Amino acid sequence: MTHWLLPTDRQSLPQAATTNKDKVTFLKTEIKKPSYEVLCEAAELIKNGEVVAIPTETVYGLAADAYNPEACAKIFKAKGRPQDNPLIIHICDLDMLKNSVKDIPPLALTLAEHFWSGSLTMIFPKKDIVPDTTSGGLDTVAVRMPDNEDTLNLIKMCGVPLAAPSANLSGSPSPTTAQHVYADMNGRIPLIIDGGECKNGVESTVICFTDGGKGIKVLRPGVITAEMLSRFAKTETDKNVFAKPDENEKVISPGVKYKHYSPKADITIVETDSDEKLAEFLNDKNDGGTYGVIFGNETGIEIPTISYGNTAYEQAHNLFAVLRKTDELGAKRAYVRCPEKTGVGTAVYNRLLRAAAFKTIIL
Ligand code: TXA
Ligand code: MG
Repeated sequence: MTHWLLPTDRQSLPQAATTNKDKVTFLKTEIKKPSYEVLCEAAELIKNGEVVAIPTETVYGLAADAYNPEACAKIFKAKGRPQDNPLIIHICDLDMLKNSVKDIPPLALTLAEHFWSGSLTMIFPKKDIVPDTTSGGLDTVAVRMPDNEDTLNLIKMCGVPLAAPSANLSGSPSPTTAQHVYADMNGRIPLIIDGGECKNGVESTVICFTDGGKGIKVLRPGVITAEMLSRFAKTETDKNVFAKPDENEKVISPGVKYKHYSPKADITIVETDSDEKLAEFLNDKNDGGTYGVIFGNETGIEIPTISYGNTAYEQAHNLFAVLRKTDELGAKRAYVRCPEKTGVGTAVYNRLLRAAAFKTIIL
């Protein structure tokens, strides 16, 4: 991999047009393909405390200097994100990990060796250099090394980890293209780096360590599955991956408390083994504003449908784009056929449950 160095001469940077307590407004949000010059511009913006949207192999992120609390506060403002929901910090090498966290169990280094660069996020006790704004007030911080060469170069050029949540407005489906980011962030940030369509399409697997660093707990499933992790250590899946936390429950991962990934259309999951029953059920809903979001080859369905793929990988890749599509089509309701509940299907199912606010019909 090439590592580019940031030149010392300053670029001319987009300036904030207006600023008030709740929102910074830019006259224009630019979308630019990654090049050396564009990465320099992004690094300059980030060094100046601004927020830039970056491509990763999972979904697009909204990135700022993870060690700068004022810059990270701008991420929360741009997204409208609750301040107790912590950010993931993105690193380009293990020195950045060691600089940011303490008590790294040997298991973490083994997992880093196998899965980084890649979509595994690990939670560690944080060092003081990571501000409370970034960690949402927690004494832990989530860390990952993304599998995107431009973004790794950008982190290297910035010289600090980049805090980055998914680059959507809080509650909306995560963005898997620069155009999705633009739809949510136009006027809120100065620059989107357009790295094309994200490879995975769902966010990283988030884990914490249990049993004094010897065990793994999955807090959010992704394409790195519990089955894959269990080759390295005893792996359990947190109950909130598939369940709605109780009103006042103290959860490990604050993100599970919030409604997520939702388009405007009202989403319902339909669980059935029978294509005929599915067709019968959907055809009954034929009112013009109802859409079916289905696996792939189902036939006999008379309402408009959008396919989200035949395999769990395809479904993961397409899910958020398809949820956004329901809005483009003006759908009032969408029924989504339940994915597999194993392997990568668990990541798809976990996101769908939140998009549907847990509404499920079993036929
Ligand atoms: O693939 C991804 O992970 C993307 C890309 C941009 O890297 N990022 C992403 O970030 O999905 P975000 O903020 O949308 O989701 C992070 C999740 C949230 O549910 C949050 O609550 C949880 O990780 N999380 C972050 N830090 C945590 C911590 N210290 N303890 C427990 N959960 C944490
Ligand atoms: Mg998110």
